[in-house]
Amino acid sequence: MAIDFTGKTAIVTGAGGGLGRAHALDLAARGANVVVNDLGGSRDGTGASDAALQVVEEIKSAGGSAIANGGSVTDFAAMQAMVDEAKAAFGGVHILINNAGILRDKSFAKMDMEDFQTVIDVHLIGTANCTKAVWDTMREQSYGRILMTSSSSGLYGNFGQANYAAAKMGMIGFAKTLGLEGARYDIRVNALFPVGATRMTEDIMPAEVLSHFTPESAAAAAVYLVSEDAPQGAIIGAGGGGYHAAYVTMTRGVVLPEGARTADDVAANWDAIIARANETVPTQGGAQAMQVMTMLNSGLNSG
Ligand code: NAI
Repeated sequence: MAIDFTGKTAIVTGAGGGLGRAHALDLAARGANVVVNDLGGSRDGTGASDAALQVVEEIKSAGGSAIANGGSVTDFAAMQAMVDEAKAAFGGVHILINNAGILRDKSFAKMDMEDFQTVIDVHLIGTANCTKAVWDTMREQSYGRILMTSSSSGLYGNFGQANYAAAKMGMIGFAKTLGLEGARYDIRVNALFPVGATRMTEDIMPAEVLSHFTPESAAAAAVYLVSEDAPQGAIIGAGGGGYHAAYVTMTRGVVLPEGARTADDVAANWDAIIARANETVPTQGGAQAMQVMTMLNSGLNSG
């Protein structure tokens, strides 16, 4: 195997089943010490079980190295304790895959705010908790690989998942910003939008379709994205053997002259504003104002 994690320690949240389990098994097979985190709840986040322990047993019986952690990603103190435990057991934490997740699907009209909040808490705040818990360690080591588990629902929207989509797109901005802040410590932060046959999708897609989407093929992208040669700031889709990238782009648009910047002028220039020729993929938010300034300074009104 070319990609090797010998001497590296990885935390995978929500690794007691589904995609996280596949990530954990693949990392362990490639030599990583793995912390298998999972509180072992049901799909909506209620309840608890020893799911993490079972995956640790699987890893150990295949000759790998792993410890279990049953803490909730929503509990920052528990995630700090998990990182301390990992460091005590293995001497560092080099990789974090934020994967834990739940669903509370309903149309926004029928969704109560508790279901909105709970999903944001697990996916977005949980991801921030775990990332914060490893951040100083990765800076001190001058090495870190972090993966956010986003979703096509966040990137593109999905009926019935307003809470989940908001959390999943939130992770993209989080990843992009951490990539900027972590770059000088060789901390690379990427995002995955997977498709996998798990309990999360078992009643969402037909069985025939699901049969193509093994968790292992999504894990392949996850494992590459936390490897030594990982990119920075990539948003990678994976599932069923398909691998692709998503970009948040910006069109060149127009700079309208002073005195002609009304809503009517925006309407009149709509086609030029949204035209995709010459669009760019900004590497940070400041690119927006820079683009306008460049166009203003060059007297260029449209692209
Ligand atoms: P899954 O339900 O099999 O796995 C999620 C795991 O997270 C479960 O084992 C669960 O116990 C654990 N978990 C939930 N809340 C937790 C908490 N507070 N603390 C610790 N662990 C917790 O689902 P699946 O499909 O494996 O999902 C993994 C990730 O991939 C999720 O973030 C999900 O949103 C994302 N995803 C999955 C897709 C798919 O097609 N399966 C599509 C897009 C995104």
